[in-house]
Amino acid sequence: MAALADYSAYRATIAVPEDEETARQREELKEAAKLVAELADKLGRAPTACVVTFGCQMNARDSEKLCGILLEAGYELTEDEEADLVIYNTCTVRDNANQRVFGRLGHLHAMKKKNPGKRIALCGCMIQEPTVIEKIRQSYSFVDLLFGTHNLYKFPELLHRMLLGGGMLIDVWDKTDAIVEDLPVLRKYPFKSGVNIMFGCDNFCSYCIVPYVRGRERSRSSKEILREVEKLAADGVVEVMLLGQNVNSYGKGSEGELSFPELLREVEQVEGIHRIRFMTSHPKDLSDELISVMRDSKKICRHLHLPVQSGSTEVLKKMNRRYSREQYLDLVGRLRSAIPDLALTTDIIVGFPGETKADLEETLSLVEEVKYDNAFTFIYSPRTGTPAAQWPSCMTEEEISEGFDRLLKLVQQTARESVSRLEGRVEEVLVEEMNERDPSLVTGRLSGNVLVHFPGDASMIGHFYDVKLKENRGFYYIGERI
Ligand code: SAH
Ligand code: SF4
Ligand code: F3S
Repeated sequence: MAALADYSAYRATIAVPEDEETARQREELKEAAKLVAELADKLGRAPTACVVTFGCQMNARDSEKLCGILLEAGYELTEDEEADLVIYNTCTVRDNANQRVFGRLGHLHAMKKKNPGKRIALCGCMIQEPTVIEKIRQSYSFVDLLFGTHNLYKFPELLHRMLLGGGMLIDVWDKTDAIVEDLPVLRKYPFKSGVNIMFGCDNFCSYCIVPYVRGRERSRSSKEILREVEKLAADGVVEVMLLGQNVNSYGKGSEGELSFPELLREVEQVEGIHRIRFMTSHPKDLSDELISVMRDSKKICRHLHLPVQSGSTEVLKKMNRRYSREQYLDLVGRLRSAIPDLALTTDIIVGFPGETKADLEETLSLVEEVKYDNAFTFIYSPRTGTPAAQWPSCMTEEEISEGFDRLLKLVQQTARESVSRLEGRVEEVLVEEMNERDPSLVTGRLSGNVLVHFPGDASMIGHFYDVKLKENRGFYYIGERI
């Protein structure tokens, strides 16, 4: 872990009361807005900003916070990376996420040569890695600003300082206790929203870098969470997704705080919210109380993302997941008998160090047994600083990729079978957007998270409709409004 701990040069920890910090950042935002207005005068138009999200739902939620601040500062938001300011909100969970960022930075550099006023900022999980900071300092000196996950709320101040100019600005902290509330947020969808309920992770699965780049587990106060959900409902949001790396351990370590099932019960009371989702549930902490709260709820969606990672108890032990194959299957059984129409999805890693061909067979048989609605499959990617990165692999690259392909095929086949249970049924659908390929169709989501495409128009976005599920296309349906 030495490589990850060693970045004292960039280290800072905060000791400011959080409300005071919000006020301070609001002042900084005003100062930044003055500089943006000057820039607009010079350009004869509003400067544009583009935020690109590379990671998970939490990363996406952070991007919404950045966009809220940028909009208030006076930027016009765009998806075009030719923008005057581009921010990459990075992910480092697997190496290919990092490679994508480095690859695309080359393009940004070419654009900046043509438009020297262009500003480039990098933030997110990758920037928490000292080796990445060093690489950017040495080889990507055209980047203007680097900041991490712990001081995202300081973005107004960093934006202000970056606009003042003066070379690459780096502000990355190795940890924080602070949860700063009440800065502007711009939601990607007007009718649905993520809500952070906790930050960080304490599980230290042996392959995973998240605890190192997101820090220790901290729960937001349930009062703040409920206040945010109420505000969202008042603003037209009908679906919330409660976000955390391990939502089932919400409230642990905060004395007198609600447990996760208790929090769900409270969120259920918020008028105007029709659907509640949450991510991610760690199987080891999923309580019977949660199962009964889900069963009795009218609003909690009939979908659970329950990452299994492997079907072999031996591998699970090495992964430090703290459940066995049997315990996982028993949990699935209890969930399904309590909530028969529950859709299950999962994450699986292939090629974990020490995983044998026999272990992989166990994963395949578990997938056959559980019949997920969908599974996200990943080839193991060693992450510097995590214990597993030091361990040797048992399988060759060829064996891993062959096993991965078999798993992918099996997932497609079992998912199609599982999703076919819905064929011919009439289900409630929340319309999310126009279909990307066919402008006569809208795309919506079932409570069980399956997508449905059916004839409609833009006025339907954000509303619920009863839709007959006519044709199963594997992971999604073609439907018809009734
Ligand atoms: N907190 C969530 C997972 C967050 S990361 C949970 O515990 O379920 C999302 C997924 O990325 C993980 O479920 C895992 O399947 C995958 N992942 C994490 N680290 C990885 C690595 N080093 N190589 C390959 N996949 C990885
Ligand atoms: Fe990573 Fe495990 Fe934490 Fe999920 S629970 S973020 S896989 S350490
Ligand atoms: Fe990636 Fe960070 Fe999420 S590493 S998966 S963006 S918590």
